[in-house]
Amino acid sequence: MKPAHKKYALAEVPRYTSYPTAVQFHDGIDETDYRQWLSNIAVGEPLSLYLHIPFCQKMCWYCGCHTSVAHTYDRVGLYAQDLIAEIDLLASALPDHHGGLAHVHFGGGSPTLLSDDDFAAICAKIMMGFGARDNMEFAVEIDPRTMNAQKAKALANAGITRASLGVQDFNTHVQEKINRIQPFSMVKQSVDWLRSAGIAAINFDLIYGLPGQSVADVRHSTELALSLSPDRLAVFGYAHVPWFKKHQEMIVTSDLPGMEERFAEAKMVGTVLEDAGYIAVGFDHYAHADDDMAKAVKGGTLRRNFQGYTTDTTDTLLGLGASSIGALEPGYVQNSPSLDQWRNTIHAGKLPVVRGVKLEGEDAMRRAAIMTLMSAMMLDLGTHALAFGAPENTLDDVLPKLASLAEDGLVRIAGRQITITDEGRTFVRNIAACFDTHWQASAGRHSRAV
Ligand SMILES: C[S@@+](CC[C@H](N)C(=O)[O-])C[C@H]1O[C@@H](n2cnc3c(N)ncnc32)[C@H](O)[C@@H]1O
Ligand code: SF4
Repeated sequence: MKPAHKKYALAEVPRYTSYPTAVQFHDGIDETDYRQWLSNIAVGEPLSLYLHIPFCQKMCWYCGCHTSVAHTYDRVGLYAQDLIAEIDLLASALPDHHGGLAHVHFGGGSPTLLSDDDFAAICAKIMMGFGARDNMEFAVEIDPRTMNAQKAKALANAGITRASLGVQDFNTHVQEKINRIQPFSMVKQSVDWLRSAGIAAINFDLIYGLPGQSVADVRHSTELALSLSPDRLAVFGYAHVPWFKKHQEMIVTSDLPGMEERFAEAKMVGTVLEDAGYIAVGFDHYAHADDDMAKAVKGGTLRRNFQGYTTDTTDTLLGLGASSIGALEPGYVQNSPSLDQWRNTIHAGKLPVVRGVKLEGEDAMRRAAIMTLMSAMMLDLGTHALAFGAPENTLDDVLPKLASLAEDGLVRIAGRQITITDEGRTFVRNIAACFDTHWQASAGRHSRAV
């Protein structure tokens, strides 16, 4: 890494899966606001659904997700029943004139902990409650350790079209340090089962910056991952936030690669994947040239939501399940992360929203600017402001903030035209932060940029 770029790598910046970011969510937004926003959904508006399943078989020490270990199936089965009740509540809060589902995503936690019957029952309820549009994408996150041939068939029968497998790293000595033993043969077997069942689109998650991991380990993992020909890969830098996720204290800090090593690991993944013909998508995804995400990059339709980069172009994402977040045109809402509060609210016939944020002033313009920049890697500030009915100099406050990033070769500025350079792609979160009028350098709230 160039010495001049170190300060950007060390900066604690938001990931911008939303704007304003979750740090700005507050409890002044409640069910009444949400119901109002839902009732204003336009005629024919396509919808996206995110369903959160907050249970896992075993805790990975690095995990930053909202989940807990389900020691018995009872907790999971009960959750499935309550989720079905929440689907009913949400479906009846929507106006009849919406356009049906374009995208559905089961995330977690590990949705594959659900029994095949419970999964099928939830899917049937979704279809009944919201209706599917043609070519609906139906994705599920998969822990390969929970897979078997029957489950792959059950997922396919329920309509799943894309499976996203948590791979992380294939080296045993790294897997031991993260409490996740998952041999290559297990992942290969899962992929084979899924493809044989007819689920053709396969995503992998990889992580760099894990304890005990070296650049050579990352290269080995990436090459093994490639041998299974995934359609997409998400490549995350390990976010170490033990003050927020207690179990990360199980990770020995001295085992963690330093900043230079992390940077070299991230570069290694990119080199291996790009040499194999994969297209870099945003700052942390790669897609096979034939995959819809690579086409979205070329066509300028790539978007960003809580799952990271997405081909989903809907403006209304509705969240179901404890802790899930919804993104609507007027703002964001979040369900209670507490299982008890989530459940009791649903049983009282209410939508379990506990916080959120309403977009005000320039928020919508800045949200679109950040999302465009992080997806297309370029933006014309003047044209963008005019498209939002504002004077073309409205976003000029960004220019002086970008000056040092431009000097350091991360961004090119020509008038109001901003282009992120190849070197700058890794630091796009730092560049996005220049548009953020809510963000303060709040140590301990966000993970480092690299
Ligand atoms: C919900 S999990 C995926 C499905 C399933 N639970 C699994 O792990 O196989 C979401 C992904 O987030 C990533 N992840 C979790 N904690 C992380 C952290 N602290 N830093 C970076 N990535 C993380 C992992 O790559 C993981 O696959
Ligand atoms: S990474 Fe996935 S399997 Fe591991 S604890 Fe987190 S959500 Fe569960």
